[in-house]
Amino acid sequence: MSKPRQDKIFASERPASDFVFDEQVADVFTDMINRSVPGYATILSMIGVLADRYCTAGSRVYDLGCSLGGASLSMLHHITHDDFQLVAVDNSRPMVDRFREILAQQPGAERVELLCEDVADIEIREASVVVLNFTLQFIPLALRSTLIQRIADGMQPGGILILSEKVRFADETVNELLIDMYHQFKHVQGYSRLEISQKRSALENVLIPETLDDHKARIRAAGFRSFDTWFQCFNFTSSIAIR
Ligand SMILES: C[S@@+](CC[C@H](N)C(=O)[O-])C[C@H]1O[C@@H](n2cnc3c(N)ncnc32)[C@H](O)[C@@H]1O
Repeated sequence: MSKPRQDKIFASERPASDFVFDEQVADVFTDMINRSVPGYATILSMIGVLADRYCTAGSRVYDLGCSLGGASLSMLHHITHDDFQLVAVDNSRPMVDRFREILAQQPGAERVELLCEDVADIEIREASVVVLNFTLQFIPLALRSTLIQRIADGMQPGGILILSEKVRFADETVNELLIDMYHQFKHVQGYSRLEISQKRSALENVLIPETLDDHKARIRAAGFRSFDTWFQCFNFTSSIAIR
């Protein structure tokens, strides 16, 4: 496979505008997310491991906000039976088009239904595994509870929701420290101070982080019986909720 193109989107000074998942981002997304989310490779791999444990025969598995299909492919590779349907959804046309090309070369691709739609508009049913891997943070705050409730209502008892999010912390000292450490992580990954600061501004109105307590309260209100965090690096987390 060819080396992913390097993310240089914020490398030179540019007029302020909100971040969008357009052609330019889709082009460099693999490099961008690997250098921007601490632990991304581990999270992807463990999503596959968790999915193998929870995916029941005849059920459906959902990857909501799939981008280039990192989580979908991990699940396809790890789930040890073939009696499931994987529904992958993203509302960015460039992401979906690229994922479709990648998928064409993958064993098990026939089990994947790839939809270019808003996650708010798709039917969720008979789900044993649902993945929101750094997607909920981009959904407007006012719509998040409805989405989580629709996921809960479409899940089988005992099914798992894997929710990965950039979070904020109620303690301002901890919050500032972990954001700062995160920016240091990005610098170590090769991003300049200008790139870090311009990307931060572009995401400000688009990526709205909540606390883990906020997530837990929403998850419990939707009827999930268990919730806890299995991964954290600075302000990046991945949690599981059991229906
Ligand atoms: C950070 S990326 C997710 C990364 C991906 N899950 C992975 O594991 O590589 C967020 C994705 O969510 C998608 N997205 C944001 N809002 C959405 C919505 N309302 N409906 C569908 N997709 C959405 C974006 O287009 C983007 O591809």
